Amino acid sequence: MSNIIIKNATQLATPVGDSKRCGSEMSELLVIEDAALIIEDGKIVKVGKTSDVLNGVDEVNYEVIDATGKTIMPGFVDSHTHFVFGGYRDDEFNKRLMGVSYMEIMNAGGGIKSTVKATHEESHDQLMNTGRQRLNSMLSFGVTTVEGKSGYGLDIETELKQLDVMEDLNKEHPIDIVKTYMAAHDIPEEYKGRTSEFVDFIIEKGLDTAVGKAVFCDIFTEKNVFEIEDSRRLLLAAKEKGFKLKMHADEIVQLGGSELAAELKTVSADHLLKASDQGIKDMIEAGTVMTLLPSTAFSLKEPYARARFMIDNGAAVALGSDFNPGSCHTNSIPLMIALATIYMKMSVEETITALTLNGAAALDMTSDRGSLEIGKIGDVIILNAPSYKHLSYTIAVNLVEKVIKAGELVYDKTLAFDIN
Ligand code: NIG
Ligand code: FE
Repeated sequence: MSNIIIKNATQLATPVGDSKRCGSEMSELLVIEDAALIIEDGKIVKVGKTSDVLNGVDEVNYEVIDATGKTIMPGFVDSHTHFVFGGYRDDEFNKRLMGVSYMEIMNAGGGIKSTVKATHEESHDQLMNTGRQRLNSMLSFGVTTVEGKSGYGLDIETELKQLDVMEDLNKEHPIDIVKTYMAAHDIPEEYKGRTSEFVDFIIEKGLDTAVGKAVFCDIFTEKNVFEIEDSRRLLLAAKEKGFKLKMHADEIVQLGGSELAAELKTVSADHLLKASDQGIKDMIEAGTVMTLLPSTAFSLKEPYARARFMIDNGAAVALGSDFNPGSCHTNSIPLMIALATIYMKMSVEETITALTLNGAAALDMTSDRGSLEIGKIGDVIILNAPSYKHLSYTIAVNLVEKVIKAGELVYDKTLAFDIN
């Protein structure tokens, strides 16, 4: 592992701390002008003003990056994606643009089911190839940790194929991948009308096969998919087997998913477009991170989650892409930032916290990532902009110029051009 110095940054901006930031804490960034940072053996060892950081340091022992005119920030943590899948659903998307709803498509046998079929048919290597391309794209947006879900198998074998692909990609790709088992993503054809029996199958057979292969267990808690009682049963069984918990909650109708997340103290509850006031307050009390996925709301043309209400009441909000083949076929971080700041009334500071430290909190990983502080992993992005405020100001444009993962320069946009 190389040792690296990043110096002369016009600005360094980072949230601070080794736990989630709640409510008004989300807008408190540490901002240092003319900043530098040293990473040794993959960990941050010094952060501060360039003159202080370099005092007594012999630069010849390091790879040195001059960040004059640039901003340095922690790498982004995208804590909610479904990035390993077969096939595409471009026809479905274009039908939706013409007015057919997501649930209409799903109930007519399209939607998740068509991706399940395609994911069954593709080999491990085919899924590796598309997965790798998607990770490369995420890296170019500054993502250094990503969560990925199974859920396009709905059987033992293909769920494990997705988890194995993520495991192999994790070994070869700079982005750290956190795996989630989500067999409860839809009801397979053979269990039509027998949802509880499918939940029994996951509890009795599925969960054991994923122990040690996934950190989290997640479920699509939704009307006519997995309702509250089945969700509670599955999540309690998963907890028993050592999984940490996540939920897709209150996305399409208000079903009480938020209240259940609070009751079970899930690490995060995600989507929350229709979460009730009480559900939000309960989750704040329970310490559940609220992971909002604005690109999905945008893609489905649904009203955004109530980020302002959540943060004003003291919530820890994270932002994720929800990259998937159906409801949100984009992993664009710049689009997400634009939607959060322009439509969800989140300040740029809150948005940054939501994409870094609180993203790490949604994965229960704040102890070693999510901020630029001594002892944390050296996951750093360099923006081609003199201030972090350009992240919202430069609308939907990717400002990420370099990505450093655990002290290694792994992406450099300037190399793509002959002239700089
Ligand atoms: O997070 N809501 C369920 N799961 C995904 C969509 C998956 C799909 O359409 O393939 C989501 O939006
Ligand atoms: Fe999702």
